[in-house]
Amino acid sequence: MKLTKQGLRWWSLAGSLALLLVLLPARALAQGGATGSLNAPDIAGLFNIVLVLAILVFLLVEGLLIFAIVRYRRRSPDEMPEQVHGNNAMELSWTVGSGILVIILFFFTLGFYQQPRTLPEDSEPVTVEVTGHTWYWEYYYPETGVRTETTLNVPAGRPVVLDITSADVQHSFWVPEISGKVDAIPGRVQRMWFQVDEPGQFVGQCAEYCGLQHYDMLITVNVMEEQEFASWMDGEAAAVAEAAAATEEEAAALAGDPAAGEQLYNSMGCMACHSLDGSTLVGPSFQGLGARAGEVLDGVSAEDYLRESIVDPCAYLAEGFDNCVMPQNFGDRLSAQDLADLIAFLLEQ
Ligand code: CUA
Repeated sequence: MKLTKQGLRWWSLAGSLALLLVLLPARALAQGGATGSLNAPDIAGLFNIVLVLAILVFLLVEGLLIFAIVRYRRRSPDEMPEQVHGNNAMELSWTVGSGILVIILFFFTLGFYQQPRTLPEDSEPVTVEVTGHTWYWEYYYPETGVRTETTLNVPAGRPVVLDITSADVQHSFWVPEISGKVDAIPGRVQRMWFQVDEPGQFVGQCAEYCGLQHYDMLITVNVMEEQEFASWMDGEAAAVAEAAAATEEEAAALAGDPAAGEQLYNSMGCMACHSLDGSTLVGPSFQGLGARAGEVLDGVSAEDYLRESIVDPCAYLAEGFDNCVMPQNFGDRLSAQDLADLIAFLLEQ
């Protein structure tokens, strides 16, 4: 059989259609199997509603298109069809019809929208602060000060709350079998929760193009037996405490450089909450701190007081500041030399 140009067009059209009809249900099945976490099936369900509606619209539009191509094709070179300009009834019906579809989808979506953000009542969640970096994910457990990268360890059978943000550009946290996408936006914290009842591993990927190694920003969620998780956490927490104590000890023996400390004051964000001129921001001003630091607590030297205030800010709260809102991870983020520099800078205020 000789393949004409016309024939080739028909075959490629038929081939593309067949491929779509095979691929679409396969995709639906992949999503429909998303039962990793409590709230994932509903998100997958919403996807399937959208998919079914889209298939119906697709079949309608393509069917009409193929019908028109076959039924009204040009049969001879001098055939000229009747010339028309628009059809109000048809235009109105597809405008109103698609409008109604969008409204239906809006209400379906609205029903699911709050779910991954609203924790079930009387649950005891594990909180993890998730930070996107170019190009890796950092996981911080504020209750224990433990920090991991790339792999997120969580216990089975307990809700996990993720507070998601970014340290640089916009990323998006997405583990399809666990929940929907949540964007990681610098300067903003977005919350999401999930619960997986059986131990296992789930993989995900940054879902917002964030630069050269976006492809490599993988996520592994490792769901462990509750016991196993607890003993892993205990081991990590002990290591963190040991390292922090070593840093403090080392810092006490180092000479600090106030100029380097001033740079840290600016770069670590201290200045956002602590002024140098006596005005009260979120936390107490540093004005006059050098003179009063040694007298706040009986028998505690100025250096020790400042060190504790940085590393363990909630241990003692300055008068008039009843809520401890300062991050408690500076012992972890600052090197021994950084800590000594900051203290030298604060002593000069
Ligand atoms: Cu981070 Cu893409």
